[in-house]
Amino acid sequence: MDQNIYQITDKSSVIIEQFAQAGYQIDPAALSLLLDNEKHYNPFHINQILSSLDDSILVVGPDHIYLQKKPDDTIKSPECLDIPPKDPDFEDEWIGELDVILDITDQSACIGEYTDFLDYFKNRFYTLSNLLRNRGMSFRPIESLKKRKSGLVEEYDQISVIGMVSNLRTSKNGHRLIEIEDITGTFPVMVLKKERNLFDKAMKVMLDEVIGVTGTLSNDGNMLFVNNIMQPDIPLKTNNELGQRNCKGKAVLISDMHVGSNTFLKNEWLNFIEWIKKSNDINYLVIAGDIVDGIGIYPNQEKELQINDIYEQYQAAAQYLNQIPGHIKIVLSPGNHDAVRQAEPQPAFPDRIKSFFNKDIIFVGNPAVISIEGVRVLIYHGRSIDDLIATIPGMKYKDPTRPMIEMLKCRHLSPIYGSRVSIAPEKQDHLVIETPPDILHCGHVHTVGCAKYRGVTIVNSGTWQSQTEFQRRMNLDPDPAKAVVVDLSNLNTTIISFDQPS
Ligand SMILES: [Fe+2]
Repeated sequence: MDQNIYQITDKSSVIIEQFAQAGYQIDPAALSLLLDNEKHYNPFHINQILSSLDDSILVVGPDHIYLQKKPDDTIKSPECLDIPPKDPDFEDEWIGELDVILDITDQSACIGEYTDFLDYFKNRFYTLSNLLRNRGMSFRPIESLKKRKSGLVEEYDQISVIGMVSNLRTSKNGHRLIEIEDITGTFPVMVLKKERNLFDKAMKVMLDEVIGVTGTLSNDGNMLFVNNIMQPDIPLKTNNELGQRNCKGKAVLISDMHVGSNTFLKNEWLNFIEWIKKSNDINYLVIAGDIVDGIGIYPNQEKELQINDIYEQYQAAAQYLNQIPGHIKIVLSPGNHDAVRQAEPQPAFPDRIKSFFNKDIIFVGNPAVISIEGVRVLIYHGRSIDDLIATIPGMKYKDPTRPMIEMLKCRHLSPIYGSRVSIAPEKQDHLVIETPPDILHCGHVHTVGCAKYRGVTIVNSGTWQSQTEFQRRMNLDPDPAKAVVVDLSNLNTTIISFDQPS
C-alpha cells in the first residue's frame, strides 16, 4: 500500500466519524465527493452541511452536499475572515417568545394578470378606506357628487369623500389640484394656496395614497374646495399600552450588511460580532435586509465586489452570523440586494441559501410582522423610502425616520405604486399597515435614525458598508457600523457605534 491510501483512509474515517457523531450515515458517493474536494471540505464546511440537514435524513447522499460548482479561492474559510471561534463555555440556550404574525412566504398567489391588479387595488382601497371610516367620519361615494344638479347635494354642504389619489398637479395660479377615485368614479378637489397649513399638507399627499377630504362644491359642481385632508394615520397609544412592559431583555436591530462588497466594513462588523458575543442581556438580533451585496443589482457592480458568486456571498454571511451565540435569536428578512424575487412583498430566502445558516435562525419575508416578548415588530427593508424622499418636500436621507412616519400616517409601507418599488399584485395588499406595530424597523437608506411617533418606536438601522462609488456619484453619505439596541421593557433605543473594538 502506498502512503496516499493510508492518507485517504484516515481522512475517510474522520469524515465518517464527524457525520456519525451528528447522527447520520454517509453514502460512499457522498464520501468520495468530499474526499475529491478535500481542499474545500474541511470540518468547518462539513459542519455547514450538517446544519443544513433535516431530521428525516438518515443517510447523507451527494445531493445533500452543496458543491454544485467547484468553489474557487474566493470562498473564505473562517480563518480568512478572522472570525474568532465560539466560546464553548458560553451559555447558549435561547429562552424567549417569538411568533411570526404576518409573512408572505409560501402564500404568494398572483400571476400578474389584469384581474390580479384590479383585485389588488380594490383590496388596498377598501382596507385603507375602512381605516379612515374607523376614525368616526361618514363619507359619501364620489358618484353622489355628480347628482348635485338634481338637488341631492347642496352647494354649501360640507361634503366628505374618500378616494385613492389618481393625479396630482399644481395649477398655474399655484393651487394644489388632487384627483381622487373610488369604485364609483373620479373627482377633482382643490386646495387653495392661501390656506397655508392645509396647502403644506396637500403637498405631502402622494399618488395612490387613500385619503379623506372634506370641503364645499364649486358653483358649477365640478370641483370640491377642500378645507380638511385626513389620512388613516395611527391612533395615539394609551398610557396602558405605553406603560412598562412585563418583558426583559433587549433586541438589536441592524440591516444592510452587504457582505461580498469590497466596501463591506469587515473590521467594524467583527467588532460588532465580538460585542454581541459578550453581551448577556440581548435575546434578539433582527436584520432588515440586504444581507449580501448581490450580483447585477446595478451597472458595473462586479467592479465593487470582493465575492462575485451569490452563494459564496451567503456562505460568508452565514459564517459570520453562525458565530453568534445560540441565546440570541436571529431573524433574517431580505432586501432588494438579496437573492429573492424583487417585487414586494418578497418571500424569505430559498432553502439552498437557508442551508448555509444555523438551523435555529428565523427566516421571514419582506415585509413581515413578528412578535418578540409580546412586542409587535414590523420589519420592512424600506425601498419605498427612496420614493418618499423624492416626492415629499423636506424629506432627506439624513433623517430616514421622517419618511417612515409618513408610512404610518398613510398606513402603507409603499404608498406610491409603480415608481422605484415593484409591487406584486397579490389579492391582499401586504404592504398595508392594518395593525399599528410597536416598532417599525427599516433599513435600505444606509443612514441611522430613531424616533417615536404616536407611541410607535421607529428605527432605521443603517449599514455595514462604507460609501460606494454609486453613492458618491449620488452624493449619498452613509452612516455605517452602527447597531440600534431596543430595551424591550420600555422600547427605548440606544445607538452603538462599532468603529472601534469594544
Ligand atoms: Fe442596502
